[in-house]
Amino acid sequence: MKRSLTVMGNWKMNGTRGDNESLLRELVFEGKKFPSVEVAVFPPSVFIESVAQQLVGSPVRVGAQDLCEQLKPGAFTGEVLGAMLKELGCRYALVGHSERRHVYGETDERVAAKFVAAQHSGLTPVLCVGEQLAEREAGQTETVLDRQLLAVIDQGGVASLRGALIAYEPVWAIGTGKTASPEQAQAAHAHIRGLIAARDAKIANSICILYGGSVKADNAAELFAQADVDGGLIGGASLKASEFLAICAAAQALHDE
Ligand code: 13P
Repeated sequence: MKRSLTVMGNWKMNGTRGDNESLLRELVFEGKKFPSVEVAVFPPSVFIESVAQQLVGSPVRVGAQDLCEQLKPGAFTGEVLGAMLKELGCRYALVGHSERRHVYGETDERVAAKFVAAQHSGLTPVLCVGEQLAEREAGQTETVLDRQLLAVIDQGGVASLRGALIAYEPVWAIGTGKTASPEQAQAAHAHIRGLIAARDAKIANSICILYGGSVKADNAAELFAQADVDGGLIGGASLKASEFLAICAAAQALHDE
């Protein structure tokens, strides 16, 4: 039996109110079949409230794709405070997703500040880390992961990782259909856990490390079966109920084995 797995769907900038309603209808109906899997969806922020309302009474949780690093309200046009997301019903917040880092230029320091801000508001941060293709090819994968993780440990302390989640998402695998092999994923996850273990063995042992990057129904089981892979952060495949549910089913089956 594998410890409980987590499956999260990052909808990115997709969907309409109508799309969300039909997707969620299926998730709510089928979601009870995965009692040992923590399932969450991350809609665009404008839909968080209606999604949370539709999920009342369901075990499926809601998260935000991003938040502002500020700790208090103020003159920050276009930004959303963690406390506002919490008020709408969010449990989780992604921080440092590769599209935030590489399309919108977020630095490690800003990501770390967002991590701290999420916890300040009572949200559970899901810290996304991962190397770009050129970095992998240059043998820098572990250096990049260390830099991204240490930025958070420097700002929040290792204790801030207690209860948080990490998502390892190699940038070259996101939206490309090129999944990391189970061995590549396992190696990166073990490295991440090892870095934390060197500072706090207990947190390292309990922290949930998700894999993300072209996870589909047909490759989820072999990825999730790896010792240090505790579930997945799913992009494209989370927009289709049958695909997302099949990924949740793969996680439940590993737990039941
Ligand atoms: P894809 O599953 O579409 O590759 O996206 C992964 C991702 O970025 C999830 O956050």
